[in-house]
Amino acid sequence: MDIKEAIIARHSVRRYRTDPIPAEVRDQLTALIAACNEESGLHLQLIVDDPDCFKILLGHYGMFKNANNYIAVVGPADLPDLDEKGGYYGQKIVLTAQTLGLNTCWIGGTYSRGKCKAAVGEDERLVCIIAVGIGENAGVRHKDKPLGKICDVPVAEMPTWFKNGVKAAMMAPTAMNQQKFFISLKDGEAVITPGRGAMTRLDLGIVKFNFEAASGHKCR
Ligand SMILES: Cc1cc2nc3c(=O)[nH]c(=O)nc-3n(C[C@H](O)[C@H](O)[C@H](O)COP(=O)(O)O)c2cc1C
Repeated sequence: MDIKEAIIARHSVRRYRTDPIPAEVRDQLTALIAACNEESGLHLQLIVDDPDCFKILLGHYGMFKNANNYIAVVGPADLPDLDEKGGYYGQKIVLTAQTLGLNTCWIGGTYSRGKCKAAVGEDERLVCIIAVGIGENAGVRHKDKPLGKICDVPVAEMPTWFKNGVKAAMMAPTAMNQQKFFISLKDGEAVITPGRGAMTRLDLGIVKFNFEAASGHKCR
């Protein structure tokens, strides 16, 4: 499976098997995280065997089973676009994890910040976590907004690369599946703007990564 196939195969998984992440897979993830930190200035961390971070009392949304591992999205509080960068690099790791046979779920709200074992320096901020492990199942495809609410370019006028990008953007995970982003084509370049509301900057980074990986074109 490559990254483009992973975009299609990935869905949020909240129920995991008790099996640990195999050592060689863990090493690959750790190496990728180190490379992402080097490139981005973020302080992403893989934390294993920490079920407490997922323990909170809530309704049905965000209830996790056998979730033991996560990637903590941490970065310098004054880093410009910290949330967007966290989304972008987090999604790179999420899709790579999928190619390695793992399942994931972004978690911005339904986890215990207080119990999170990530190292968060005084000048850093914990943006969110991403559950990672071997899923009980592969998850299900989310519902989409109508295309017209996400993009103002008629399908017939879309260049192939742009169409591939839009399709992948729509497959991206967003907080509460809100899909609050808008894609336009300006001077031959894709421009993605976030909507208003909580976590839309984080969503923006995730959506941009999917768009770029599927289209092969950088977006603004
Ligand atoms: C930034 C962000 C925050 C999220 N926060 C939570 C959360 O707190 N709890 C949860 O169970 N799912 C959370 N999710 C998962 C979304 O509900 C899920 O991605 C969305 O419904 C789309 O489904 P999919 O990931 O299967 O495509 C979050 C997703 C994103 C991108």
